[in-house]
Amino acid sequence: MKQARGCAHGKVILIGEHAVVYHYPCIALPIKELQVQVDIQVAEEETLTCDLYCGPLAQLPAHLANLACAIQKSKTYCHCQDTLAFTVHSDLPAERGMGSSAAVACALIRSIFHYCQQDLPSDVLLQFINEAETLAHGKPSGIDAITTSQNEAVFFIKGQALETISMNLDADLIIADTGQLGDTKEAVSWVASQAQKKETKEALHQLGQLSLEAKLALEQKNVKYLGQLLNKAQVQLERLGVSNATLNDLVQTARAAGAYGSKLTGGGRGGCMLALCSKEKSAAVYAALQKKAKQVWKFNLKEEG
Ligand code: MEV
Repeated sequence: MKQARGCAHGKVILIGEHAVVYHYPCIALPIKELQVQVDIQVAEEETLTCDLYCGPLAQLPAHLANLACAIQKSKTYCHCQDTLAFTVHSDLPAERGMGSSAAVACALIRSIFHYCQQDLPSDVLLQFINEAETLAHGKPSGIDAITTSQNEAVFFIKGQALETISMNLDADLIIADTGQLGDTKEAVSWVASQAQKKETKEALHQLGQLSLEAKLALEQKNVKYLGQLLNKAQVQLERLGVSNATLNDLVQTARAAGAYGSKLTGGGRGGCMLALCSKEKSAAVYAALQKKAKQVWKFNLKEEG
């Protein structure tokens, strides 16, 4: 029986979320350890099986219209008329700012192109993910599509050429999940509704400046300074109104346990936070976050070799 598979991975935004929607820079990195895999089989009825839904594609709930979009766009492009069953296996928690919706869309698109044995140009892949993301998030900057589909950390300004960036630091990155569903669409529209206010404009501008400084800190491998920049970014994200009490508590917990710096990551209002730590402090930061968070991951930023 004809089968096919497509994969993608998670992402985190190190610095610059929300501001990136307004053409300010951000830095984001792929989380290759957290994978999404889509398997396709020929079936009698077109179906989707994933954490959020299991049933006929025709009855997919409205909040998963992004996935139907990814499937339809790809099948049309590939002139595929077969009836397919899609099974999604994901390490990523949904709606937590770790790129789950973009990663699932990416894996679905790749699985269909694999099934049809067609080349998938990267601009077509990004376009289809972004069309799906527009349904999921309203006004995506494009950063989730990029970081869930390719393997490098990036310095990204919407509408400009992509710059890859080295994240090779003698440090650990810890990510903690509040367990609360973030709502990126809602958070992005909230910021848009406030975008003409002086306070909002200043916060977005500050976030852009902090991303530029973070790029320099990364180039100089100055992790302590990078940590301070993450703390400053959190102040601006709170000013934008996209943090919440649980995120603030985890951010403070990480700092109290010795992190260089910590902030929310992604859309906010729930979802995940991240902390940058020395190797010496990372076990303590991990343990402190584990007492409060739903799930905690630790990643070593030092590249091998
Ligand atoms: C979501 O991961 C990041 C936001 O900046 C939205 C976007 O860039 O599309 C909040």
